Amino acid sequence: MGWNIFTNAPDSYHLTAAHIRNSLHQQGFATFNAADLDLSDSEKIDLISLCELSKSLPLDRFGEGGRHRSYCEGIWSWETETIDWKTGYQQPDGSIEIDYHQGSEYQPEFGGVVRKFLRMSDEILNKGLLNKLIWHDLSLTGMAEHYSRLLCGVHLIRMQALPGKPAKITPNCFHRDGQPFTAVHLIERCNVEGGATHIAPPYYANCQLEAVPAHEITRFLLNDPLDSYIIDDAAICHYINPVICDENASVGVRTIILIDFSPLEQSDRCPQ
Ligand SMILES: [Fe+2]
Repeated sequence: MGWNIFTNAPDSYHLTAAHIRNSLHQQGFATFNAADLDLSDSEKIDLISLCELSKSLPLDRFGEGGRHRSYCEGIWSWETETIDWKTGYQQPDGSIEIDYHQGSEYQPEFGGVVRKFLRMSDEILNKGLLNKLIWHDLSLTGMAEHYSRLLCGVHLIRMQALPGKPAKITPNCFHRDGQPFTAVHLIERCNVEGGATHIAPPYYANCQLEAVPAHEITRFLLNDPLDSYIIDDAAICHYINPVICDENASVGVRTIILIDFSPLEQSDRCPQ
C-alpha cells in the first residue's frame, strides 16, 4: 500500500485536512464528510462495493447479537511508506481469523480477552477508497512524523438491528479505546435510530450515559455515507448508543469502517 497518494490532490483538500487537524488538536475530536475527502469516481464505486461486501460479514461472536465484523491489522513503516498486513490463521473450515487485543483498562466488557475476528479480505484491503481513508486519517494524527513503525487496525462493522432487538456497540458505556487515534467512517445507515456518538471529558470513562451531565456531552450522528470523525483517545472518552430498528422496518443497518493507529515503540523521530 503506497503512501504518496495525495501528491496530486487539490490545494483545497490539503487546506481542509489542516482545518480538521486543528479541530482534532483543540477539541480532542473532529468531524468531516465525503466532500472533505474529495472522492474520485473509482472511490465512489468502492463505497458501493464496500456496502455490498459488508452484507456477508459474519456475526461477531463476542458479545450480544447484531454486530457483524471483519478485521485486519498491519505494520506501517516510515521507511517503506507501506502497510504490511498480517495474514491471520487458517481455521478448519477454511476461513482465516486474526487476533484482536484490547487492554482491560479500556475495555470493561472484553478487556484482556483475545478476540478472534474474520480477517478482512485482501479485496477490501486493496480498495482505493480504503487506502485513501487510511492515509487521510494517518495524516490527521501527525504520528507519521514521530514514529518509524505504527500498528494500523481496520474494522468493517455492520450493526444490524431487528424490531425489538437493538444492536449494541461494545463497550456499552463511555470509554476510551486504548489506541491513540481512531477514525470512524460511515458506509451505510438505513432504517435505524440511535448509533449516535457522544463525546465527554476523559474522566467519564466507564460511566453510563445517565451519569454524565448533559452540558459535558457533545453529541453527533453520522448520517450520510462517509460522514466521519476522528478522536484523540487521551483527550476525550466516547460512547455510541445502541442502534434501534425503525418502527416500520423489518431490519435496520449501520455500517462503519473504523481505522486506528498505535505506536509500536517509543517516539524515535522527534525533531532534535
Ligand atoms: Fe470505542
